Amino acid sequence: MANTADTAHTADAATGTGYWQAWQDSWDRQQEWYMPDREERFRVMLDMVEALVGTTPRVLDLACGTGSITDRVLKRFPGATSTGVDLDPALLTIAEGHFAGDARVTFVTADLKDPHWRDALPHDSYDAVLTATALHWLHSDDLSVLYGQLAPLVAPGGVFMNADHMPDPATPRIDAAEHAHRHAGMDRARTAGAVDWREWWELAAADPLLAEPVRQRFAIYGEHADGDTPPEAWHTAALLRAGFAEARTVWRSPSDALVLGLK
Ligand SMILES: C[S@@+](CC[C@H](N)C(=O)[O-])C[C@H]1O[C@@H](n2cnc3c(N)ncnc32)[C@H](O)[C@@H]1O
Repeated sequence: MANTADTAHTADAATGTGYWQAWQDSWDRQQEWYMPDREERFRVMLDMVEALVGTTPRVLDLACGTGSITDRVLKRFPGATSTGVDLDPALLTIAEGHFAGDARVTFVTADLKDPHWRDALPHDSYDAVLTATALHWLHSDDLSVLYGQLAPLVAPGGVFMNADHMPDPATPRIDAAEHAHRHAGMDRARTAGAVDWREWWELAAADPLLAEPVRQRFAIYGEHADGDTPPEAWHTAALLRAGFAEARTVWRSPSDALVLGLK
């Protein structure tokens, strides 16, 4: 597919790598406030990449944000390459600064709800399409369409994995108790200084290199896009319908799951 000049960017250092590393770390701490087991799900995701497509995969980091998945992929598999795709200009600024000069990484700006978003990718086939904490920004109807667009992008024998919030509608009392317990822990961490989503964005807006992309980002999304969180059985059924040969959960916590589709 075409690597269009207006949507594909190679990493370009705006300043030193330590600067962007600090924003990466700060993003990780903010996300871990919501998901203390975030690294565990990344580890299982990469275990399944290694099990199914080996240690030199071509990866698509879908809704990559600051490139957290790409970062874990390249640390564990130095021979891998990654395309990160996202719509958020501020998170992409951090990603591009962090990976500046790394020829293994390309970032692409695209809206996954745009029917032509794949045209911006530098490749038309990937060994592993990986995403985390992102597709709940889409409604299920849009996610079904997206799964249909992803299946042809995954090479034969390749994998798609989605780690996200996937509560079980059949267990509302369990879910409510788990939610209350988890949020009590988050409240304690917040009292001890943890930064939440809103405060993180206030800090980013105060950074001179991020102020303008943050302004653009809020013009695109507002505080947060509006989506939903279907259960894991919905995801596996949708992946099979989309053309994956096998699909199932490979990890779950009380609130979240990692669903894998195999081409
Ligand atoms: C909570 S962040 C997660 C980022 C990263 N995967 C991680 O685990 O840190 C959700 C990401 O999804 C992206 N996103 C949401 N809707 C999108 C869309 N329609 N097109 C492209 N990216 C989207 C957001 O811009 C944001 O970067």
